[in-house]
Amino acid sequence: MGLLATRRILLGLGGGIAAYKAPELVRRLRDAGAEVRVVMSAAAARFVSKLSLEVVSGFPVGDDLWSTDDARIVHTDLARDSDLVILAPATADLIGKIRHGLADDLLTTTVMAAKTPVLVCPAMNTEMLDNPLVQDNIAHLRSLARYTFLEPGVGLLACGITGPGRQPDPPEIIEAAAAVLADKDLRGLAAIVSAGPTREPIDPVRFIGNHSTGTMGFAIARALAARGATVTLVAGPVSLRTPVGVARRVDVETADEMLAALTELWPSTDFLAMTAAVADYRPAQRSQEKIKKTDASGDSAMPPTLALARTPDILKTLAARPDRSRVMLLGFAAETHDVIDYAKAKLVDKDLDAILANRVGVPESGFGPGDNIGTLVFRDGTFVEFARAPKELFADALVAALAPRLTHLARRSAHA
Ligand code: C5P
Repeated sequence: MGLLATRRILLGLGGGIAAYKAPELVRRLRDAGAEVRVVMSAAAARFVSKLSLEVVSGFPVGDDLWSTDDARIVHTDLARDSDLVILAPATADLIGKIRHGLADDLLTTTVMAAKTPVLVCPAMNTEMLDNPLVQDNIAHLRSLARYTFLEPGVGLLACGITGPGRQPDPPEIIEAAAAVLADKDLRGLAAIVSAGPTREPIDPVRFIGNHSTGTMGFAIARALAARGATVTLVAGPVSLRTPVGVARRVDVETADEMLAALTELWPSTDFLAMTAAVADYRPAQRSQEKIKKTDASGDSAMPPTLALARTPDILKTLAARPDRSRVMLLGFAAETHDVIDYAKAKLVDKDLDAILANRVGVPESGFGPGDNIGTLVFRDGTFVEFARAPKELFADALVAALAPRLTHLARRSAHA
C-alpha cells in the first residue's frame, strides 16, 4: 500500500501526446493503493488504446457520452463514486472548456458533475502553455478552491523543443494527489527539515561522507507540506527531486554550511526536524590542491595522515540559543540495541523535544529507499512505536504522531 491507499481516483485524459503515458500512470496509481477509473476524450483515444487502459485499471473505460449499451458509463455515477479527479494530460482545450463551463463529452460532463477536488496536470507545447488565453484560464481555475495545478515539467517536448509543458512523472502526480486529499491541519506552521549527508572536503576531489541518501528527510518534508506546513528543506548533497509542495530548498555541502543555513532560517521557524546524517568529523586541514600519490621526483609518496577535527553539533548549537523554547526540535538517532535508552539519553544531552530512534542493523532498513522501523520518544517520556513501513508511509505516520503538538505551534504562529 502507498500514499493513495483506499482512494478512488478518476483519471481524465485530454487529447495530448502525453496521453500515451496513461497506462503507466494508472499502474503506478494502483501501486500507490488507489482504485482507478479512466475517462478519455475522443482525441485522447487517438494517442492511447482504450483496451490498454481497461487492462491496467481493471475497469471499463469511458469515452462515449451517448453509449446506449448495457455497460453504459454514466457521468454522474463516475463523478459521485470518486474521491479525486486527476486530469493528466490536461490540454489547452480541456482546461479552456472547464474554465468556461462547457461540457460536450463524457470527460467534461463528468468533471462538471463532480464535487470532488480536481488535480489538473497541464501538459502541452510551450507556446500553447504561454498563450495568454491558456494562462488566463489556468489563473481563473487556480483561484477556485476546487482546482489544484501541478506545474508542468521542463523537458524535451514531442514538438522537438525543450521547455515547460512536460507532464510530470507518476511519483510527482501521486505526491500531488495525496497532498490534495490530506487534511491541512498544519497550515501556518513554518517547518525546516534537514536531510542527507554532509560532505567534508579533504582536497578539491576527495571528501569524507556517509551513505545517507536523504530519502527519510525528503519524505518527512513531503508529509509536512502535504498537511499545509510551509517547509524549507535544507539538503546535503543528494540526487533526489524536491518533493511536491515543499516551499524552498537550500542545498549545502558541509556541516558548517548546514549550520549557517539553519541559523539563518531559525528566526522564522516553529519546528526543525534534523534528519540529516551530519558528518561528525572533518579533515582538520583542507588542501587547496589535489593530494598526489607521488612526490616531486615521481616516486610513490608516503600515504598522508589525515588529522580530523570535530564538526559543530548543529542541534546542540541551535538548542543553546536564547529563544530555543520557541522552536520544537526533533532529532534522530540510529541505534542497533537498547534503542530507547540511548535515544532518551541523546534527547536530554541535546536538549530536544522529541527524538526518533531508528533501528539500524535490521535487514532492508536504514540508509536508502527501503523501509524504516523506529520509536518516537517525547521529552515527557511518552513514546510511539512505528511498525516497519516504506519511508513514505513511515513519514506520514511520524507526522501524524507529531501533529497534535505541531497544530498547537501552527495556531500559535497564526495568532502571532
Ligand atoms: O550524536 P548523533 O550524531 O548520534 O545525533 C544524531 C542527531 O544529531 C541527528 O538528528 C543529527 O541530525 C544531529 N546532529 C547534528 N550535528 C552533528 C551530528 C548530528 O545536529 N554534528
